Amino acid sequence: MTAFSRRDALTGAAGLAAAALAGGAGAAPKRAPIPFGSAAQIETFRADPRYRDALKRLCDVIVPMNDLKWEALRHDRARFDFSGADELVGFALKNGKALRGHALLWGMALPPWAKEMATRAEAERELTRHIEVVVDRYKGKIATWDVVNEVIAFDPKPGEPYRDTIWQRLLGPEHVEIAFRTAARVDPKARLVLNDFNFEEAGAGVAARRKIALDIVRRLKDKGIPVHGVGMQAHLYAENAIDSDGVRKFVGELGKLGVDVEITELDVIDWKLPADTATRDRAAASLVSTYLDAVVTPGQPKAIVTWGLTDRYSWVHETFPRKDAAKARPLPLDEDYRPKPMMRVLERYRRGRG
Ligand code: G3I
Repeated sequence: MTAFSRRDALTGAAGLAAAALAGGAGAAPKRAPIPFGSAAQIETFRADPRYRDALKRLCDVIVPMNDLKWEALRHDRARFDFSGADELVGFALKNGKALRGHALLWGMALPPWAKEMATRAEAERELTRHIEVVVDRYKGKIATWDVVNEVIAFDPKPGEPYRDTIWQRLLGPEHVEIAFRTAARVDPKARLVLNDFNFEEAGAGVAARRKIALDIVRRLKDKGIPVHGVGMQAHLYAENAIDSDGVRKFVGELGKLGVDVEITELDVIDWKLPADTATRDRAAASLVSTYLDAVVTPGQPKAIVTWGLTDRYSWVHETFPRKDAAKARPLPLDEDYRPKPMMRVLERYRRGRG
């Protein structure tokens, strides 16, 4: 696999142009349309009317970026604060959008009291109660849940498949089963998803992560615990090539287990690309197109969700700062909400022509 080069960016543009022509208005759909959506940040949602308008105009699916995390819901052990989540859920339902819930169990974004849990019994009690209260509240409203988020070890070692979190430390591998079993009991109609990152590139570590995801799915199914999907976050690094064969095989293997995929947090981290914005935008669109082509070959993702809509608001800028201090360009719309080439790629899949 070669890293992404300037030449690729240029040829990618030619490829995109050809594909756009091929997939233009007149072409027959290749597949069922794939719903498109975005994560929504409550602070921005409240402050920026253009943000709300873009969510309403462009999205089929909305996922509260932070408001269904423990950190937002559970300021203290006794109380649940649903204000942010209710506002975004209400907006989505009012505007006919589907909803994804993120995330019932994560080792991060925990309130201080949860980080101090000390026994197996306490962890199981708190996890079960949390899922019971949250899933019950949004039953019939949130159709899909990221039941567990990022439970796979970042760089798995033999015999250590799980990420070192308080849940893993107190409950062991069962933390995944408790979460899925409880969510399924409270809302048997919800789609239950294992959500994680780093499934997209070549390398032994990524292959190990894919294998662990498959092993977790098999273990849940063997125990009769419902699991319906794997969420591939797809935070793509523009300087790294997509392992198309590896992605195709992974999605195909999941399909054989009766499990779908969804793209849950798509964006392109362009910190290593040349400064020129047109070059970066073309490269990002071409990378997304290559990635989605690999995913849709064996499967039909349930949704393609980006981690935000506009470059104006993205975690990427602070987390992956460019040496030239230029603003990151990770998302489908630029800072002024103008569609970039990536948006055209996503629209092709949304029309069933991707
Ligand atoms: O809401 C509080 C606010 O009251 C307080 O004043 C402010 C300053 O402390 O913090 C606010 O909370 C922040 C929250 O975002 C809402 O803005 C948290 O500190 C901050 O850590 C949190 O960051 C989010 C991060 O997950 C951790 O939850 C990012 O916005 C969000 O983009 C990021 O998303 C994650 C996915 O959930 C999982 N996959 C990776 C992805 C990127 O890291």
